[in-house]
Amino acid sequence: MESLVQQIAACKAEMEATTPDTPELAEQFRIRYLGTKGVVKSIMGEMKNVPADQKRAFGQVLNEFKIFAEARYEAILNSLTPAQNEDHGLGDFSLPGTPITPGSRHPISLVRNNIIGIFQRLGFAIAEGAELEDDWHNFTALNMPGDHPARDMQDTFYIAQNPDWLLRTHTSSVQVREMEKGKLPIRIICPGRVYRNETISARAHCFFHQVEGLYIAENVSFADLKQTLYFFVQEMFGKTVKVRFRPSYFPFTEPSAEMDISCLICGGSGCNVCKQTGWVEILGCGMVHPAVLDKCGIDSNKYTGFAFGMGIERIAMLRYQVKDLRLFSENDLRFLRQFTGAL
Ligand code: PHE
Repeated sequence: MESLVQQIAACKAEMEATTPDTPELAEQFRIRYLGTKGVVKSIMGEMKNVPADQKRAFGQVLNEFKIFAEARYEAILNSLTPAQNEDHGLGDFSLPGTPITPGSRHPISLVRNNIIGIFQRLGFAIAEGAELEDDWHNFTALNMPGDHPARDMQDTFYIAQNPDWLLRTHTSSVQVREMEKGKLPIRIICPGRVYRNETISARAHCFFHQVEGLYIAENVSFADLKQTLYFFVQEMFGKTVKVRFRPSYFPFTEPSAEMDISCLICGGSGCNVCKQTGWVEILGCGMVHPAVLDKCGIDSNKYTGFAFGMGIERIAMLRYQVKDLRLFSENDLRFLRQFTGAL
C-alpha cells in the first residue's frame, strides 16, 4: 500500500512534467496513462492485493488519481491550438468559417446550354457520342472522298496504334450513328468537343466545341432549314438580327450554305469585328446529301432532311465580345469570373 501511494505520487509528478504540444504527443500521453494497458489501469489492478481493511481508503486514492489523470489530459488538449484540436473533434466553434467561393459556369457551358435550350423548345433531342471515332462515322458515311482536305494529316489527329481511329473533327459522326439506328423521323442536336490539328492562334485551337443539328422526316425543305435557323439566331442574339445565306460546299449536304448574321457591334454599317462587311459568319448548313442518307440506310426517295453545325466558341465570342479563342481554355479566373451570373 505504502509503495503504491509512492508510485501514484511519482506518476502524478511525471504527468505534470510532461507537456505534449502536438495532437500526436497528446495521444501518446493518453495511451500511456489512460489507455487500456496504461498506468492508471495497471495501478487499479493492484487493488486485489490490498488488504481488505485498507481497500476503502485505497479506493479513494485510486479514484482521485484517475480523476487527476483525466483532468491533466483534458488540460493538455485545451492547450493545443484550435486547429490542432480539430483532430479531436474539439474545434473552436467561435472562429469564422473558411469561405467557400461559389463556382460559376464556364462561358462555353453557358452558351452551349443556351443553344441547346433554344433547339429543345423546337423539339430537338440531345444526342451525344464518343470523341474517339472511326473513319466511317467521321468521314466515309458523310460522303467525304478519300482526298478530302479534312482527312489530311495536318487537319485530323489520327491514333497511331490504329489509323482507322481518329479524334472526331465534327459531331456529324453522332448524326451518322443516329441515322444508322433507322428510327425516323430524326430531330437531334449534337453538342460536343471536336479536334482539329491547327496551329494555335487567337482564331484557332487544336480543339473546340460544336453543336450540330439534324432533322430528317418526309417533306423537309430548305425553307424549314432557313426558318429554324432564323428562329435560333433571333432567340440567341435578339429580334433585330438579320440573316443571309451564302452558297457554300460541304460533301455531306446539297445544296449547302453558310449563314451570316448582321454584325452585332456596328449593326451592319461596318467595323473591325465584321471586317467592314457588316456581316459575320456563324454556321454551316444544308440539305442532307441523298448519298449520305443511302449510306446510312435511309430511303432518300422518301426522306429529306437538313443539317447544320456551329462552333460554340464562335457564338460565345460574338455574344461576349471575346477577341481571343485561347481565353476559353486557359482557365484564367480573372476571365472566367466575369461570367458569374451571365445569361
Ligand atoms: N460538319 C461541318 C463542320 O464541322 C458543319 C456542318 C454540319 C455543315 C452540317 C453543314 C451541315 O464544319
